[in-house]
Amino acid sequence: MDLKTTYLGFELKNPIVVGACPMGTSVDSIRALEAAGAAAIVLPSLFEEEIMAAARSAMEMESAGAGFAEAGSYMPNPDGYHIGPGQYLDHLKAAKDAVSMPIIGSLNGTSVGGWTNYSKKMESAGADALELNTYLLPFDADETGAEVEQRTIDIVKAVKDTVSIPVSVKLSPFFSSLPNLAKRLEEVGTDGIVMFNRFYQPDIDIENLDVIPNLRLSTADELRLRLRWLAVLSAQSKMSLSATGGAHSAVDVIKAVMCGAHSVQLVSALLIHGPDHIGRTLEAMSFWLTDHEYQSLEQMQGSLSLSKVENPKAFARANYMKMLDSWEM
Ligand SMILES: Cc1cc2nc3c(=O)[nH]c(=O)nc-3n(C[C@H](O)[C@H](O)[C@H](O)COP(=O)(O)O)c2cc1C
Repeated sequence: MDLKTTYLGFELKNPIVVGACPMGTSVDSIRALEAAGAAAIVLPSLFEEEIMAAARSAMEMESAGAGFAEAGSYMPNPDGYHIGPGQYLDHLKAAKDAVSMPIIGSLNGTSVGGWTNYSKKMESAGADALELNTYLLPFDADETGAEVEQRTIDIVKAVKDTVSIPVSVKLSPFFSSLPNLAKRLEEVGTDGIVMFNRFYQPDIDIENLDVIPNLRLSTADELRLRLRWLAVLSAQSKMSLSATGGAHSAVDVIKAVMCGAHSVQLVSALLIHGPDHIGRTLEAMSFWLTDHEYQSLEQMQGSLSLSKVENPKAFARANYMKMLDSWEM
């Protein structure tokens, strides 16, 4: 079965992209993911905080006369699996040499600043494309929704002005008008939208009056939010669309592609089942497509977008009452 798709201008052999996660931190693991069938990989994010900390530390060393400013950028991040800026670029180069699938670098930050220049360094290190994660929780009551959106647009524009490789944005679902934001992002040259960031909700320890950060992997239920907005955006945007969040099985990938996804990112499913899950998923997709007499994946791509679906109201508010009424006691 022909599973080819075009994402960010790349012809991918299939729509499965490994999303940003710890599996992208080792070259061996990246090789295993490609061997298992992955069509592309997003490396774990390099964070604004990490870049700024490395820059600060380099400046401190320089002003202390240590004469060893570079060392600052090699500092590992003590808080997690993420690697520092210098190592990141070396890792990107090594990954690029090791596999032939596109390597997408990821930058994560919330403000326009010097850190966005790292996009150029990632491009020079061989990144085929960049994914910008603008993970941002607006806590300031004086900041308006329009200002929050503008921040995202400014970051993307700053990066687009710096690099010539394709740039996608990984968005949160929490915007008043996602289609309007997407349109404005398209106007500044964004090549793709990745839907959606999962906000990791902290829990509360009621005995110790504490907030406990904990990471839970996704379930397939989370895909539905993505499906609706894929269907909406694919009907009015020429950008590449990627689904992330809740895609676990072949059926999930097929649903996302039908709603207009050009690629589908897997993370939780791979952390649970390992790289071989990709091959099994691709096999099951091929089987399903053949069984339903499709000639190719592209034939069904976007077939359930808002502009093509027989009953667009099913994605919209009109269906809300009907759905509540359908509940049987
Ligand atoms: C352990 C772990 C690490 C992650 N690291 C990153 C990251 O560095 N940058 C990023 O944009 N997303 C990161 N994510 C989010 C994933 O890329 C993905 O968007 C999310 O897990 C939803 O996809 P899933 O349902 O397939 O897990 C991470 C997720 C997990 C579970």
